[in-house]
Amino acid sequence: MHLWKKLALAALSSTFHIALGQHVVNLGGDGWTVSSKELNMSAPGHLPSQVHLDLFAAGIIEDPYFGLNDFNLRWIPDNNWTYTSEPLKGLVENAQSSWLVFNGLDTFTTIKFCGHFIGTTDNQFRQYTFDISKALSSCKGDPTLAINFGSAPKIANAIADDPNSEQWPYGPQQIYEFPNRWYIRKEQSDFGWDWGPAFAPAGPWQDAYLVQFGRQESVYVLNTDLDIFRKGQINHFAPDQGQPWVVNASMDFLGSLPIKPSMTIQVKDIETGEVLESGPIENVISNGQTITGSVTIDADAPNLWWPTGLGKQNLYNVTVIIEDSEKHAIASVTKRSGFRTIFLNRLAITDEQLAQGIAPGANWHFEVNGKEFYAKGSNFIPPDAFWPRVTEAKMQRLFTAVKAGNQNMLRVWASGAYLPDFIYDIADEYGVLLWSEFQFSDALYPSDEKFLENVAAEVVYNVRRVNHHPSLALWAGGNEIESLELPLVEDAAPDRYSFYVGEYEKLFINLILPLVYENSRSISYMPSSTNNGYLWVNMSAPIPMAERYNNITSGEYYSDTDHYNYDSSVAFDYGSYPVGRFANEFGYHSMPSLQTWKQAVDKDQLHFNSSTVMLRNHHYPPGGRETRNYKNTSMGMAEMTIAVERYYPIPNKDNSAANFSAWCHATQMFQADMYKSEIQFYRRGSGMPERQLGSLYWQLEDIWQAPTWAGIEYDGRWKVLHYVARDIYQPIIVSPFWNYTTGDLSVYVTSDLWETAHGSVNLTWVDLSGNPLSGNAGTPQSKRFTVGGLNTTQIYATQITDLTLDDKKNAILVLSLDATGILPNSGGSHTTFTHRNQVAAEFPNQLALVDPGVEVSHDEKGGTFTVEAKKGVSLYTWLDYPSGVVGYFDDNSFTLLPGEKKTVRFTVQKDDTNGKWVKDVTVRSLWDQTTKD
Ligand SMILES: *[C@@H]1O[C@H](CO)[C@@H](O)[C@H](O)[C@H]1NC(C)=O
Ligand SMILES: *[C@@H]1O[C@H](CO)[C@@H](O)[C@H](O)[C@H]1NC(C)=O
Ligand SMILES: *[C@@H]1O[C@H](CO)[C@@H](O)[C@H](O)[C@H]1NC(C)=O
Ligand SMILES: *[C@@H]1O[C@H](CO)[C@@H](O)[C@H](O)[C@H]1NC(C)=O
Ligand SMILES: *[C@@H]1O[C@H](CO)[C@@H](O)[C@H](O)[C@H]1NC(C)=O
Ligand SMILES: *[C@@H]1O[C@H](CO)[C@@H](O)[C@H](O)[C@H]1NC(C)=O
Repeated sequence: MHLWKKLALAALSSTFHIALGQHVVNLGGDGWTVSSKELNMSAPGHLPSQVHLDLFAAGIIEDPYFGLNDFNLRWIPDNNWTYTSEPLKGLVENAQSSWLVFNGLDTFTTIKFCGHFIGTTDNQFRQYTFDISKALSSCKGDPTLAINFGSAPKIANAIADDPNSEQWPYGPQQIYEFPNRWYIRKEQSDFGWDWGPAFAPAGPWQDAYLVQFGRQESVYVLNTDLDIFRKGQINHFAPDQGQPWVVNASMDFLGSLPIKPSMTIQVKDIETGEVLESGPIENVISNGQTITGSVTIDADAPNLWWPTGLGKQNLYNVTVIIEDSEKHAIASVTKRSGFRTIFLNRLAITDEQLAQGIAPGANWHFEVNGKEFYAKGSNFIPPDAFWPRVTEAKMQRLFTAVKAGNQNMLRVWASGAYLPDFIYDIADEYGVLLWSEFQFSDALYPSDEKFLENVAAEVVYNVRRVNHHPSLALWAGGNEIESLELPLVEDAAPDRYSFYVGEYEKLFINLILPLVYENSRSISYMPSSTNNGYLWVNMSAPIPMAERYNNITSGEYYSDTDHYNYDSSVAFDYGSYPVGRFANEFGYHSMPSLQTWKQAVDKDQLHFNSSTVMLRNHHYPPGGRETRNYKNTSMGMAEMTIAVERYYPIPNKDNSAANFSAWCHATQMFQADMYKSEIQFYRRGSGMPERQLGSLYWQLEDIWQAPTWAGIEYDGRWKVLHYVARDIYQPIIVSPFWNYTTGDLSVYVTSDLWETAHGSVNLTWVDLSGNPLSGNAGTPQSKRFTVGGLNTTQIYATQITDLTLDDKKNAILVLSLDATGILPNSGGSHTTFTHRNQVAAEFPNQLALVDPGVEVSHDEKGGTFTVEAKKGVSLYTWLDYPSGVVGYFDDNSFTLLPGEKKTVRFTVQKDDTNGKWVKDVTVRSLWDQTTKD
């Protein structure tokens, strides 16, 4: 205990850093100027920031997100920009050494201090340090720091034009707006993507510090790798849950260690304050600028961290201290972490699994703390084109929506940026697993030494930085490289195919895999987002992981799936969905709401195919710097239009804005219905031979206001999709499967609880006025069921022609489920589950809709809204709210029978209307899509 008294004293002292022989100046804040010599332009700058943000704040440019500024502001990335500090104050005069520490520079910089050249950088994702001792001691006048950011698009083009640079055949290299992104280590979607703009921002996007050391034996911690795993754990095998925990702490630092340094650790439960472990760290080794050691903790001592829905998110503060030979603390770091194992199981299917009816092949699913679970979630893209304005408050709102949406996993897609720690912190708290990827996507990448060295530094820094977060679930090499890029290059250059496979393996297997394993025992690695697994892993083989590629046997399953089909004629055809072990991407785009469009588009452009709406749609992308590629966008716009026209009433309202709104909404209804159909199919697969254990749709949220695959719009408004996904991601669901070609109709109950659940489903046929069909059309009124853990059961199957449906256009089957079951890690107590679903034997545009007389009333006292359908069945009942407030209803896009009342609450996440929004809540239904007003 004596160790801790001393530390507490040090921590209380306001001169903590100086006491440790160092002086740290945070370079963040105002006090910068951003300028361009060529443009003769200058404005107040900030750190962290990016040029667009500072020019916008200074009123030099309008909102980059408005109108067609994606195209109009290209002069910004086409020029160099310099961030110059004010004269730095408060530096220590007689420091032994002085350093600059940059946690992120975007991207190509030349750094000068006091007019002296200091160094260059060329990777947005790395941390850089520079010794400026000499420059400072010879500084005449005021010390200032100047960081010149080169034009990333121009530099990428210059590398491409270099005869020594690798060139690839036409086909694999996907160009969205700016070309040549694959040569540079910068957020790949900065050069455009099919859901986003291409601003190619530049600037000091992360924190920066000036660190000075007053004496020897002083260290400044740059990065900490905290690795918590079960003793003996190997990344690609199931951890033995009976083994003790190992807590391995490894710190990278500036400065120099004392002779005979030691380390101590304290592990403290953040909820109870109880100390789980305290004392010296064993096996301390220092190696260059890194010091490492570990302790073991009894197997059952910690309270485990679980994803949301599967148990509590127990978290611990882990404090690691470096001490000198006299036990004086010289550096201290606290990381909030948790105890869990997370393992991507891609091992061969066992005999025991075969006996359960699981098809042969290999597994492809996650196990947390030794337990299989169903991964429910979506794909996370950069939440803004400009990271410095991604606030903690905004991410709290987003993760609240994720958790409320019954999602336990997000795939952090491979071509934004490695997430900042504060987002992992939020995920740790909310219990959202983050499948994380290295930033490579939809292209082939160079494999020369210089590029690989740059990538290696990026990988090591980021793996070490985020490893302590219990939400970290996986590292994947890149997006769609193996499933898409290799087939594309095989088509484009069949005779060179094995060369490109070799290059793929060099980067994603030979280089990255060992770097991940050397820095993390706790996290599995796979080389690409979608794959058929591996044949073997052998760390001493020249290529340590032998991919299975297409060496597959029919009738066996090995893989996760990535599936898009923009032929909407098969959107609801089960035969068109991939059958695999896990679905990591699938989707179809839709329009954002009218409210969101209004934030970004002039009034006269608020119609479906206005030029601004069309040019903000980047599916299909412009395909180059060409700004007005109507041909490509027309195809994507048409896909939405055709899907609506195929299945839903076609909006044709007199008022142009109302018509636009109805159209936007119709595209969202289609999108949500399609995802629901696929998610139900995937979840049912948990009890099918494919043993399907995950559904992550494309995509969670929007980067800006545009037609995309998102379920949540840029400012946090939920599309129909996020509500529908929330509903169909509940633990126990009842799902109809209507095969409209054969007329087969079956109903399944699917559960992702771990224990068997029991209950019943009422099956009720009604006409669209809400009257029961005589004899319930030949369907039993109710069915009892038992459904196993992570399994499915068919409760009813029929042929539509066998039913006594007088008029298929005037009939829907309402399914109401009531069940009891045990939530994972809930101590065995029973919980009641309900779920409602419905199906018709016609698509919505064929139904004989009646005006349901749907109305909403607001109860001011209770803060709730009550919706009632007074005249008929209200389908796709949609509560809408005005601009100025962010939040979500308890439920939305639901079916309401006449006489039913539904009361919902609206969770307010942000309100700029001073509560006035409640007056403008409206309700509509499918019927309103058919009316002129
Ligand atoms: C722009 O920046 C790049 C990269 O730092 C540099 O090579 C180039 O000389 C700069 N151009 C000008 C006009 O300053
Ligand atoms: C855990 O650490 C954080 C950050 O250092 C601190 O704010 C918090 O009070 C600590 N919690 C406990 C229980 O010590
Ligand atoms: C799912 O339930 C069925 C029926 O009880 C059973 O035969 C099958 O083995 C179960 N599947 C798994 C993977 O447990
Ligand atoms: C194909 O896979 C089998 C194991 O499923 C393995 O024995 C064989 O070597 C593989 N073939 C190739 C060419 O990798
Ligand atoms: C109906 O079932 C058949 C046979 O399983 C399948 O091929 C077809 O794709 C299904 N059609 C629809 C619309 O689901
Ligand atoms: C099913 O129907 C029975 C009989 O009408 C009713 O008591 C029960 O509440 C219904 N269950 C559900 C989930 O609607």
